[in-house]
Amino acid sequence: MTKQVTAPFTAPATAPFAVPLAALPAPGAAPAAAPVRPSGPSAVGRTGAAEAVGAGPWPASARPGRGGDLTVGGVSLAEAADRFGTPLYVLDEAEVRARARAFRQALPQADVLYAAKAFLCSAMADWVSEEGLGLDVCSAGELRLAVAAGFPARRIVLHGNAKTPEELRLARRLRVGRIVIDGPSEISRLAALVAADTPQRVLVRVVPGIAAGHHEAVRTGVGGQKFGFPIDGGDAADAVARVLAQPGLDLAGLHCHLGSQITEVEPYLAAVDTVVRFLAGVRARHGVELPELDLGGGHGIRYLPGDDELDPADFADRVTARLAARCAESGLAVPRLVVEPGRAIVGPAGVAVYRVLSVKHTADGRVFAAVDGGMSDNPRPSLYGSPYTVRLVGRPSDAPPARADVVGRHCEAGDVLVRDARLPADLRAGDLLAVPAAGAYQLSMASGYNLVGRPAVAAVRDGRARLLIRRETVEDFRAREVGR
Ligand code: LLP
Repeated sequence: MTKQVTAPFTAPATAPFAVPLAALPAPGAAPAAAPVRPSGPSAVGRTGAAEAVGAGPWPASARPGRGGDLTVGGVSLAEAADRFGTPLYVLDEAEVRARARAFRQALPQADVLYAAKAFLCSAMADWVSEEGLGLDVCSAGELRLAVAAGFPARRIVLHGNAKTPEELRLARRLRVGRIVIDGPSEISRLAALVAADTPQRVLVRVVPGIAAGHHEAVRTGVGGQKFGFPIDGGDAADAVARVLAQPGLDLAGLHCHLGSQITEVEPYLAAVDTVVRFLAGVRARHGVELPELDLGGGHGIRYLPGDDELDPADFADRVTARLAARCAESGLAVPRLVVEPGRAIVGPAGVAVYRVLSVKHTADGRVFAAVDGGMSDNPRPSLYGSPYTVRLVGRPSDAPPARADVVGRHCEAGDVLVRDARLPADLRAGDLLAVPAAGAYQLSMASGYNLVGRPAVAAVRDGRARLLIRRETVEDFRAREVGR
């Protein structure tokens, strides 16, 4: 049962993800590093017209503009809204790059993979590739888009609790760097696709029994949910034994994703403790030291002023120290660390801009500001009760702040984007509202509800805006109809 496992990351030349930047194509030089703001509560309140923009959930480049406007990446949001229409998602390229770089700098010995599920398009793939990151994909769609955009397949890891036969075949054909084995049937299915002379590098996804994350729906570190092999009870040990017995599968290490929007380092430290104990057990049983440990993503960001975020440097220092200490105690070589941040790279880089369509004042004193988007472009508030902040842009207002629910345009009472927002009392139809921290899990989870169409996406950088993704139209929906 003992199998020699090669340590793929010991020689930089063969490192699949840690490709030196110089080796990568650099279409369009990276802009100067914009520093990621240090963690810590900001002084501003929950929402409001006068909310400070240099702190909290806004991109670092956000500045008050002329006449009550807001600029991001040097671009007026009101002008971008006029030019591209609303709802509009504005992505600050420098913020994405700076955040990618912050992870790389914090973890120079690790591989940093961007979790594409947070948001993926070709430009995004370019930016993270140019910053030296690898990519975590979880579908043939994400994989195909990334590879078509030129992302090197060897720096891609394929995830998924239910990979189709086609996805596994595609991953093999494109030669993705790693496939994460998530369930028992995948072991034999993948082994059957692989010739023993061209083994597939795989990771086994283990569940350490640690609850973390902003909502039950995203807590994957505990038993009783669909992902991975629980360590408790022996499923993970059985999976490792079965993978090691397959000559076509090269077990590079373990994978463990605890959950999402985690703002403390402690759960990761607990995961390191549990997983290193498990690694010691693997060595005792099989005589094998696994060379990689992928701790997944989950790094939390600020949605509201005053929120905490997980600082990559603090995360890196404490996790690497704990990993080294626990490995030393067990006499194990320290595995190469891999992390998969998604939200923490792209979330704070996005700002959603909506046009107010109506402001309804009810007899019982409520105010509903209805905008031209809603749960079809941002399902997070209705799915998880996620909080957001919002502010007026594009015109000044001296009106006092008043409480309003910012609601979407969809046919559900639960289509509320920001409950109890504080917005100027003179808010009216035609105004523009901007919502920060909109870059992750909004567009990527957007739907075709009510055939409203998914919004346009524009990148901003150095005072210029360019359209990345055009607005979805009814013609796009009609084009998919092939019968009646
Ligand atoms: N790695 C794996 C295996 C994952 O499943 C995920 C996220 C990530 C990395 C990236 O996690 P991040 O760093 O972005 O938190 N729709 C939810 C989040 C779902 C996360 C799913 N997996 C939300 O909007 O909060």
